[in-house]
Amino acid sequence: MSTYSSTAISHPNIAFIKYWGNRDNVLRLPENGSISMNLGGLITQTCVTFEDGLPEDTLTLNGVSSTGKSLSRLAGFLDQVRRMTGKKMYARVTTENNFPTGAGIASSASAYAALALAASRALGLDLEERDLSRLARLGSGSACRSVPGGFVEWQKGQSDADSYAFTIAPPQHWALIDLVAVVQSERKPVGSSEGHKLASSSPLQKARLAGTGRRLDACRSAILNRDFEALSRVIELDSNLMHAVMMTSTPPLFYWQPASLAIMKQVQYWRHQGMAVCYTLDAGPNVHVLCPQEAAEKIRLRLADIPGVSQILQAAPGGPAHLADGCTLD
Ligand code: DP6
Repeated sequence: MSTYSSTAISHPNIAFIKYWGNRDNVLRLPENGSISMNLGGLITQTCVTFEDGLPEDTLTLNGVSSTGKSLSRLAGFLDQVRRMTGKKMYARVTTENNFPTGAGIASSASAYAALALAASRALGLDLEERDLSRLARLGSGSACRSVPGGFVEWQKGQSDADSYAFTIAPPQHWALIDLVAVVQSERKPVGSSEGHKLASSSPLQKARLAGTGRRLDACRSAILNRDFEALSRVIELDSNLMHAVMMTSTPPLFYWQPASLAIMKQVQYWRHQGMAVCYTLDAGPNVHVLCPQEAAEKIRLRLADIPGVSQILQAAPGGPAHLADGCTLD
């Protein structure tokens, strides 16, 4: 009996300039380029074993066997890897996050970055970073940004061939901290894949897209120059624009909770008082509060005092998706 195994580790990422809306929902070709930072310290480990004789793919996430949509999405992704290699075997996939799953941290990015690396390696492919990023993109758009390390840009590209992400600055370039203020969510929000399909129904999406090129330039320069003030301006604007699109789509998507807005207002107030701090939110109520490392402890204590903040996760710029020596999950 033949078995082919590999294990990979990756980090989730927080988008500074957001991906929202696809030109092609199957290939996940985005309407606009995006920029993000990998979240070091938050980790997904994924072990993949392809084995002759398995009747189907299986997925165990944080010790619990998964079925339904998450399994069929995984199986569809593994079909792509099987097609690339000509192999037909099914796989056992075991994956674990070291960050709380219920906390609403985008785990599909780290999930598909780690899966793309582990599955392609297990079946004998040794992909270059850009091709691994393209492969991860097919599983989840934002996953292509968790393949390279540090501060990362995803160029929207013309087609599948050139829509991939690359490092614009390594993790050690800038000691930024992301304090994720976790807010209790009352109901499960609509997932990103559904949300992307609604983006074009908002009358604001065109205006958001028209200015994305300028915001990408401003964000890239702010990162390269370590200019926190410029970064604050552009990422808060970009987050607000994406949420305005979400709120004005049909049906409307409101990801914010009252506590999310309370945190955003506090962050703005602290900045007006002279602190280096800013916010951004992905498709959920949790607020990513960014600041230079030296301000992190003070801001963490202040965030903890805001009613509705249930916990605070902390991450520094993280490295690329990489292989691990062996699986510690089986
Ligand atoms: C709001 O990458 O999760 O976090 O491609 O359908 O998996 P799928 O969507 P996903 O969308 C991320 C949306 C976002 C913004 C971002 O990460 O850029």
